[in-house]
Amino acid sequence: MSQEQAIKIEALNKSFGKGDAFVDVIQDASFTINKGELVALVAPSGAGKTTLLMMLGCVDAPTSGTIWLGEEKVYDNKWLTKETRKIRREKIGFIFQAHYLIPFLNIIDNLRLLPQANKTDDKQSKAKARELLKYFDIAEKEKAMPSQLSGGQNQRVAIARALMNDPEIILADEPTAALDMARSIDVVKMLKKIASEQDVAIIMVTHDERMLKYCDRVMKIENKGIVFDDEHTTKIL
Ligand SMILES: Nc1ncnc2c1ncn2[C@@H]1O[C@H](COP(=O)(O)OP(=O)(O)OP(=O)(O)O)[C@@H](O)[C@H]1O
Ligand SMILES: [Mg+2]
Repeated sequence: MSQEQAIKIEALNKSFGKGDAFVDVIQDASFTINKGELVALVAPSGAGKTTLLMMLGCVDAPTSGTIWLGEEKVYDNKWLTKETRKIRREKIGFIFQAHYLIPFLNIIDNLRLLPQANKTDDKQSKAKARELLKYFDIAEKEKAMPSQLSGGQNQRVAIARALMNDPEIILADEPTAALDMARSIDVVKMLKKIASEQDVAIIMVTHDERMLKYCDRVMKIENKGIVFDDEHTTKIL
């Protein structure tokens, strides 16, 4: 694991709404996550996990505070660039609870969707997609449709898709929620491998305590603040 920062936030606050509809979700949160780390994010439903990921992913603006992605300060009480979409495309990979593959495109074309939007060379994106499918042991499925793959296989495709743009950061919102125990462990081990081999910082939301031992650190949202579980160390790899 390198000591280079991938994500740093300082004094981050997020609330929604006004008056009776006001909800204070995150208060005065500060932390740093380095490249190469797999960090679990654990908190009860409604505590603000998705909200935090959406801010780190430049999808939703904080109410106040500062965000760095890598060495680049991207938010300081306002977005510091008009091109948040570009930052997102270049630096961030998203994985969700449902795999969200496009049902009418085969596997390799699902992977190539984003690079096409990024105007990457066609040949290059195909080669990259094939390399990733091989890495995830699903190379023979490139022409299959998502409906012909199992839940676990589709989630592997979704992880491969998140890696198509060589992200520095992967934000995974309950990537194992739809999978059984064995498939969940596969997915988490795979995320661990990506983090360490490709020096990517990964935040993975999970409700499953059994997944925590595969993660480097456990981050919690408590009383609207972010705390790290000091007791936690990676026990099994
Ligand atoms: N766009 C929004 N407008 C108003 N309130 C919102 C909005 N998005 C989220 N919230 C509120 O912010 C709080 C945190 O929601 P969030 O979705 O981040 O929780 P979560 O920890 O991801 O929960 P879960 O485990 O159920 O996915 C909730 O009280 C939610 O109602
Ligand atoms: Mg959520």
